[in-house]
This record gives sequence, structure tokens and C-alpha cells, in this order.
Amino acid sequence: MSLDGLDERFGRAKIAMRYRLRAASDQLFAIAAIVAFAQVLSVTAQAPPGKQTEEEATSKRLHGKGWWPTATYAKREAFVGTEACRACHSDKVFQQQRTSMAKAAWKAAETAVLQSNSSISHSIPPFQTEIAKDREGNTYTVKRGGEEMTGRILWSMGNDTMGQTFVLRSNGNLFESELSYFASIRGLDLTPGHSKPSPENLEQAFGERQSAEDAQKCFACHTTASSVRGQFDPERAIPGITCEACHGPGALHVKAMQDKQIEEGRNAIVDPGSFDPVKLVDFCGACHRAPLDVAAMKAYVPINIRFQPYRLSKSRCWSKPDRRISCIACHNPHDEVVRDITYYDSKCLACHAERLTPTSPREQGSAAPGTLPSCKVSTSHCVSCHMPKYVVPQMHGSFTDHDIRIVHAGDPLPL
Ligand code: HEC
Ligand code: HEC
Ligand code: HEC
Ligand code: HEC
Ligand code: HEC
Ligand code: HEC
Ligand code: HEC
Repeated sequence: MSLDGLDERFGRAKIAMRYRLRAASDQLFAIAAIVAFAQVLSVTAQAPPGKQTEEEATSKRLHGKGWWPTATYAKREAFVGTEACRACHSDKVFQQQRTSMAKAAWKAAETAVLQSNSSISHSIPPFQTEIAKDREGNTYTVKRGGEEMTGRILWSMGNDTMGQTFVLRSNGNLFESELSYFASIRGLDLTPGHSKPSPENLEQAFGERQSAEDAQKCFACHTTASSVRGQFDPERAIPGITCEACHGPGALHVKAMQDKQIEEGRNAIVDPGSFDPVKLVDFCGACHRAPLDVAAMKAYVPINIRFQPYRLSKSRCWSKPDRRISCIACHNPHDEVVRDITYYDSKCLACHAERLTPTSPREQGSAAPGTLPSCKVSTSHCVSCHMPKYVVPQMHGSFTDHDIRIVHAGDPLPL
């Protein structure tokens, strides 16, 4: 699903009662978010004093010096694949391969749900959609009365625990399937962002035709090395976000390290850990949508909880960008998201003072205590109140608002 289509997806966002906390927090969760629509968006691009870089849109970053995720210029031979990293970084390879980022795309023949079902069907009258198997693979067919349109499933985008959208080929064109498979309902439903009034013809009920540029971007965010020297070449794409999607092509690094040329090896690979926080958030934003990418989106409707870099940048915690509030302060890009919310307490308390009570032992190994204002309401489970989750019905799932803030009952979603 193209993230540009997110407007409709968030049209009916609601705060999820996902965490069962005690006392005060329960009240906060009984909030129904009111959806508001704003016309104008302004994102301040000012860099605070210090050596921060300025925020930049991905389109601009891609023309900067050095590798940037979703760049298309590298040669195919420059990519060596994740297996080539294992010899020296086995722990990272082991961890990273289990993440949903690593599973962001599958070839049709390797997609579990397509393998395990001989057919999957769904009907949105007057259209009937059926996914079936034949000797060459999987077909996707839409019928109405006596007419039908059919195509091959080439890829499925999205990990298999939430939603998977199919990339189809029919008559030489690429399409994003009108229906996606959702694990939570074990079946097909409308692809988020496609929730237009009922399709008027077979092609619309089949999917959204992809321009060369759309398809290239879709693969750039979900696979590795899908474009070579600027040419879109999905046949040879490496499924999922692999090491080289973030760190850039690794051939020179591997060669140098094998030859014990450590300095040369380091210079031949990108270490985003060396970036300042603004650049780091833009880095993840190459795919998750950098603040200025969201600002530049034309059909902008501001219900975009799913664009974490943008949401975070609106938060007052980001008013002085700092490493302690960059994406990697809370997420190890090589590992799964931590679902235990107490894990995040120490991240907040790296900046905010702890309100000490006899029962609030400091977490082991946490950074020096913060000095910013402390919370009068609670000493733990910070994110449960300040980073609420919103259920997005069309996504059959929920998202965490990264605009860290005080949420009052009845508050509209900040835009
Ligand atoms: C032959 C061994 C070897 C292989 C293979 C290898 N690396 Fe490395 N890598 C190293 C060494 C050694 C370092 C430097 C570690 C240090 O300085 O502590 C390093 C450092 C890195 C760094 C940090 C760079 C920096 O500036 O500190 C990254 C990122 C990295 N490797 C990624 C990769 C990726 C991605 C692959 C696979 C494409 C890979 N490596 C394959 C040996 C290897
Ligand atoms: C090349 C594109 C790309 C880049 C760069 C990227 N991501 Fe992702 N990320 C994705 C995609 C695509 C998904 C969705 C995977 C899925 O569920 O299908 C994702 C999912 C995630 C998830 C959710 C995992 C889950 O279990 O729900 C986290 C957390 C995440 N990314 C963090 C980061 C961070 C932090 C960075 C920067 C260091 C980053 N990403 C950079 C493409 C990217
Ligand atoms: C600018 C980068 C970008 C483009 C372009 C893009 N995606 Fe994504 N997509 C993402 C990221 C990042 C996520 C994860 C969002 C999250 O979980 O917060 C995602 C999530 C998804 C998911 C949901 C996965 C899940 O776990 O629920 C599906 C399905 C998907 N994309 C399909 C597509 C398809 C199909 C296309 C192209 C036709 C496409 N996307 C284009 C970046 C992109
Ligand atoms: C989603 C983007 C992303 C992917 C995918 C990714 N990395 Fe990283 N990697 C990062 C970021 C960001 C840092 C900086 C982390 C920090 O400084 O805390 C990093 C740091 C590193 C480092 C140096 C610092 C350290 O922690 O040792 C190595 C080595 C490395 N990555 C190897 C790999 C390998 C090998 C893979 C594939 C198995 C991989 N990375 C996949 C984003 C990514
Ligand atoms: C890098 C340091 C840093 C981190 C980490 C951080 N914050 Fe903040 N936070 C700030 C700053 C700076 C402000 C603005 C303070 C001011 O203006 O007085 C702020 C303000 C706030 C506010 C008040 C917002 C408002 O609109 O009045 C809340 C609530 C908050 N933070 C909660 C959190 C929570 C919860 C976490 C962890 C998920 C967190 N912060 C992590 C720096 C940080
Ligand atoms: C202060 C801590 C913090 C920071 C900073 C942070 N995140 Fe998160 N993130 C969280 C929490 C908490 C969750 C929800 C974990 C759970 O499922 O309980 C989350 C969830 C996610 C998810 C999963 C989808 C969702 O909405 O639940 C993605 C993707 C993600 N973060 C990406 C990012 C990116 C990209 C950045 C940098 C712009 C970032 N995060 C910065 C705390 C943080
Ligand atoms: C039960 C919900 C809840 C939890 C859990 C919670 N907070 Fe709060 N927090 C609030 C509310 C409500 C306010 C606003 C209080 C007010 O305005 O009097 C607040 C205010 C704040 C402020 C603004 C303080 C100021 O004076 O400007 C900060 C900072 C903050 N919280 C950080 C945190 C941190 C850090 C944690 C975790 C250690 C945390 N909160 C846990 C509900 C919560």
C-alpha cells in the first residue's frame, strides 16, 4: 500500500485500549480521539544551536554525498547480500533476519499464505476476487458477471504478521492489488488507501496501476537493490530490508576487512551511528517518511500516525534534537520492537527527572538521571499515557503516536 494513500486509512482513528494499567491511566484510555482535518502544515526546519544538520526531504538527501536508503544508483556487483556479513557480524545477522523489516517483502513463491492455501477468495459485490495456484505460481483474478481480469502475483509486500499487499502483473503492467491479506482476519480485505467508493470497472477492482516511478519507490522501501544504476530491476531485488539497504552496498567493505584494511573498510560502509540526531531521524525517514517528506506531500491530510519521524518531530521532546530522542534511542534497528512498555521508561528518564518515591528503584544501566521536568502523575509506564496507540480499522492493527505529549480526555489529535 502506498503510504501516500494514508489519509483515508486514518479517517477513523481511535485510541486503543491496548494496555491495561491501573488507576489514573484507565481514565485516560477511555478517550475517543476526534479526528480533525487541517489545511496547512508547517514544519520548522530550523536547526538548534550546535552542529546539527538541518532537516532535509528524502529527495534532497538522495542527491547528497554518500549512501542514503532507497538510493538507486549503485551497481549490482556492489551488493554482496546479508550472508556475506555473517562471517564477521554473526550476531547482528541472526537478530536482524528475524525482524519485520527483514520480512517487508516476499517473492510470491515464498509467501507463506500463498503456499499454504490452494485458493483464497473474497467478494465485494458485484466483484469476486480469487487467488489461486497453477503450475507457474499464483494468479489473482477479479470477476464480474461474465467478464474477468487476471494477473500473476509477483511479490507480496509487508510482513506476514499484519498486512500483505500483492504486486501483480497483467498485460505487461504492474498493479498494487485492490485486496490485501490480513493475518488478524485470516483473509482478504480492501488494501488500505484504496478505500475509494466502489470500483467502477474490472481494472479498478483488480488494483491500482503503478507508474514506473511508483513501482520503483515501492520496491526501494520494501526490498534491497531493486534498482541498479538508476534502472528499476525488480526481478533481481533482494527481498526485505537487509543490511545493505541501510548501510549501503558492502562489497568494498567486505574486501577491505578481509584484507585487514580496517580504516579503508570503515570508510567503505555507512555507519548511521555517526550521524547527528536530525540526520539520523531523516535516515529512518527515507522509508518511514522524514518530517519534510510529509510536509511536501501534496494530498496531505494530517492523520499520519504512521509516519513516526514526522510525528516525533512535532513533539516538544524534539525541541532540542538530541541523540537520546532519536529513533535508535528507543529502537535497535537490528532487533524486534520491544513490546514491554516499561523498557521505554529509562529512555524518557534519560532526559526527564525521575520523581523519586521509595518504590521507584532506578533501572540498572540507565543513563545519568535527567534534569527536565518530571511527571507528577506517574513514575513508570510513561509511553502508555504519553505515546498512545491508535487503532486504524482499515489496517486491522494499531499504531503508536510518536508525538510525545500530554493527552487529555477528549483532545483532538494534534495535526
Ligand atoms: C571480514 C570481516 C567483515 C565482513 C565480512 C563484514 N564486516 Fe563489517 N566490519 C568489520 C570490522 C573489522 C569492522 C570494524 C569494527 C570496529 O572497528 O570495531 C566492521 C565495521 C562495520 C560497520 C561499522 C562501520 C564503522 O564506521 O565503524 C558496519 C556498519 C558494518 N561493518 C557493516 C557490515 C555489513 C553490512 C557487512 C556485509 C555486507 C559487513 N559489515 C561485512 C568486519 C567485517
Ligand atoms: C529501506 C527502508 C527502511 C529504512 C531505511 C528503515 N525502515 Fe523501518 N521499516 C521499513 C518497512 C518497509 C517496515 C515494515 C515492515 C513490515 O511490517 O512489513 C519497517 C518497520 C519498522 C519497524 C516496525 C517493526 C514492527 O515489528 O512493527 C520499526 C521499529 C522500524 N522499522 C524502525 C526503523 C528505524 C529505527 C530505522 C532507522 C534506523 C528504520 N526503521 C529504517 C522500512 C525501512
Ligand atoms: C516511502 C517508502 C515506502 C513506499 C514507497 C511504500 N512503502 Fe509500504 N511501508 C513502508 C513503511 C516504512 C512501512 C511500515 C510502517 C509502520 O509499520 O509504521 C510500510 C508498511 C507496508 C505494509 C504493511 C505491513 C504491515 O506490517 O502491516 C504493506 C502491506 C505495504 N507497506 C505495502 C506497500 C506496497 C505494496 C507499496 C508500493 C505499491 C508500498 N508499500 C510503498 C514504506 C513504504
Ligand atoms: C534499518 C536500518 C538498518 C539495517 C537493516 C541494519 N542496520 Fe546496522 N546499523 C543501523 C544503525 C542506525 C546503526 C547505528 C546504531 C548505533 O549507533 O546505535 C547501525 C550500526 C551497525 C554496526 C556498527 C555498530 C555496532 O552496533 O556494532 C554494524 C557492525 C552493523 N550495523 C551491521 C549490520 C548488519 C550486519 C546488518 C544486517 C544483518 C545491519 N547492520 C542491518 C541501521 C541498520
Ligand atoms: C532528549 C531528551 C528527551 C527525552 C528522551 C524525552 N523528552 Fe520529553 N521533553 C523534552 C523536552 C526538551 C521537553 C520540553 C520541555 C520544556 O519545554 O519545558 C519535553 C517535554 C515533555 C512533555 C511535556 C509536553 C507538553 O506538551 O507540555 C512530556 C509529557 C514529555 N516530555 C514526556 C516524555 C516521555 C513520556 C518520554 C519518553 C517516551 C520523553 N518525554 C522523552 C526532552 C526529552
Ligand atoms: C522515546 C522512545 C521512542 C522513540 C524516540 C521512537 N520510538 Fe518508535 N516506538 C516507541 C514505542 C513505545 C513503540 C510501541 C511499542 C509497542 O508496540 O508497544 C514504538 C513503535 C514503533 C513502530 C511500530 C509501529 C507502531 O506504530 O507501533 C515503528 C515502525 C517505530 N516505532 C518507528 C520509529 C521511528 C522511525 C523512530 C524515529 C523517528 C522512532 N520509532 C522513535 C518508542 C519510540
Ligand atoms: C497514567 C498516565 C501517565 C503516566 C503513566 C505518565 N504520565 Fe506524565 N503526565 C501525565 C499527565 C496527565 C500529565 C499532565 C499533568 C498536569 O498537567 O498536571 C503528565 C505530565 C508529564 C510531564 C510534563 C511535566 C511538566 O511539569 O511540564 C512530563 C515531562 C511527563 N509527564 C513525563 C512522564 C514520564 C517521563 C513518565 C514515566 C516515568 C510519565 N510521564 C508517566 C500522565 C502520565
